[in-house]
Amino acid sequence: MTQTDKAAALATLSARRNELERSSIADLFEADPARFERLHVRLDDLLFDYSKQRLDQGALASLIALARASKLEERRAALFSGALVNVTEGRAALHMALRNTGGRAFRVEGRDVAGDVAAELAKMYSFATAVRDGGIRGAKGQPFTDIVNIGIGGSDLGPAMAARALSPFIAPGLHAHFVSNVDGADLGDLVRALDPARTMFIVSSKTFTTLETMTNARSARAWIAEALGEQAVGDHFAAVSTKLDLVAQFGVRADRVFGFWDWVGGRYSIWSTIGLALVIAIGPDRFAEFLGGGHDVDDHFETAPLEASIPVLMGLIGVWNRNVWGCASQAVIPYDQRLGRFPAYLQQLEMESNGKSVTLEGTRATLATCPVVWGEPGTNGQHAFFQLLHQGTDVIPVDFLVASEPTDADARHHELLFANCLAQSEALMRGRSQRQVEMQLREQGRDPAQIAALAPHKTFAGNRPSSTFLYRRLDPRTLGRLIALYEHKVFVEGVIWDIDSFDQWGVELGKELAGRLAPIVADPNASLKPLDGSTAGLISWRRNLTR
Ligand code: F6P
Repeated sequence: MTQTDKAAALATLSARRNELERSSIADLFEADPARFERLHVRLDDLLFDYSKQRLDQGALASLIALARASKLEERRAALFSGALVNVTEGRAALHMALRNTGGRAFRVEGRDVAGDVAAELAKMYSFATAVRDGGIRGAKGQPFTDIVNIGIGGSDLGPAMAARALSPFIAPGLHAHFVSNVDGADLGDLVRALDPARTMFIVSSKTFTTLETMTNARSARAWIAEALGEQAVGDHFAAVSTKLDLVAQFGVRADRVFGFWDWVGGRYSIWSTIGLALVIAIGPDRFAEFLGGGHDVDDHFETAPLEASIPVLMGLIGVWNRNVWGCASQAVIPYDQRLGRFPAYLQQLEMESNGKSVTLEGTRATLATCPVVWGEPGTNGQHAFFQLLHQGTDVIPVDFLVASEPTDADARHHELLFANCLAQSEALMRGRSQRQVEMQLREQGRDPAQIAALAPHKTFAGNRPSSTFLYRRLDPRTLGRLIALYEHKVFVEGVIWDIDSFDQWGVELGKELAGRLAPIVADPNASLKPLDGSTAGLISWRRNLTR
């Protein structure tokens, strides 16, 4: 499909939008009592409600037509077949093979990778079990109580987010920590509270060259060597990477090195051995349930008709809000304190995948691509930025996520949490008209001048779209399903936008420049001549401050 065809399809959608602008979402509910029935999808206990989006059956039909015209079904088949869908890096994107609990074949360059995946998983499970039961101990014979994953981006966000989400499933006495930032405060603040004799570090890096990870890994190594002696290092380190030669050079014992493959993108790697810290924390059985949740969604994505596919609908709604309604921002608000890092995880998944402006053909994208994705748990957000969601000048679609029952938390608290989640999506949709506000103020005995002055400020335009995910509880399987749903949503959007969702060239320039600047920053006498005025001025002022 050319950009022109796509523009034509979007023109149909714009016409639909013009129609829809005549009624509010609340009007659409009034007009169709079965709207909720029509506009939700269930996957076992997980329900995806998109009835509070500003769309109707006509818009949905046009969006599905856009998906078909963009060859979504063919592109989905290519993804699952192991085709080199990461075009600019010449790689497959087969994270589904890592959670292939259904036992189907996934081929990379004609070879089924199931055996490789199973072998690495078994090795990881047996190592994790031995760490958990004390079979593997530190150099001084102490069992490990603190597991520190050193990684960044996809080698950090996944396990860090999941370990927090699944904290009720972590073995008593075990603590998983995550160090990512090259800021020495990250590692420094953590190790101050740790006992080296009981601490294991896992260096996680797909490339094993990432500046932050290697810097932190070297400092952690020095911390262990200083506390326990150089010979203890081998007992306190494990590593996860695709670059086994570089891991060997770093000095990690061969039996503690866990591999994965080029066809696993960094931001899709939680399902691989990058999950090692999580596996140690929650145990192999729970991790297998997590993989099973991801696999359920793969099955659903591959087999459900487009109209009934949750990730397809999520992606199409994303396109609808971005390209037809012009929303440049998307909020994700989990009503679940333990999903506190989920928005940050999605920021990498969505923005690193679809923050592109060049199409697969190498031409400039004519459609706006990924919105800014952000969020914080509710109810906390209600007391911070929800003001803007309700009354700001921009319309920001929201994804709400909530469990029907708490995992290891107070049930009464949970009822209040749940009620608040529903209240917010209702308030965003309904708003409160000026007439209603005036009536309320009259009932409160305010005089006409006060009413006239206050009413505009207390009015809510409403008609602000949201989707809600409701599931039984936040357990490993549910978390696996949620992550996989968003992964495939990102794929669907990338297909419509005709971009490579699996590369990330945009992160390279900053890395290169940091590499060039680091020696200049370190050497107070280095010439600032080649630098631009601002960069030179800032370094020069720092030299003043540190003199
Ligand atoms: O800088 C971006 C990035 O390449 C991400 O895509 C990746 O998840 C992260 O850095 C970490 O990379 P690595 O696992 O190779 O250390």
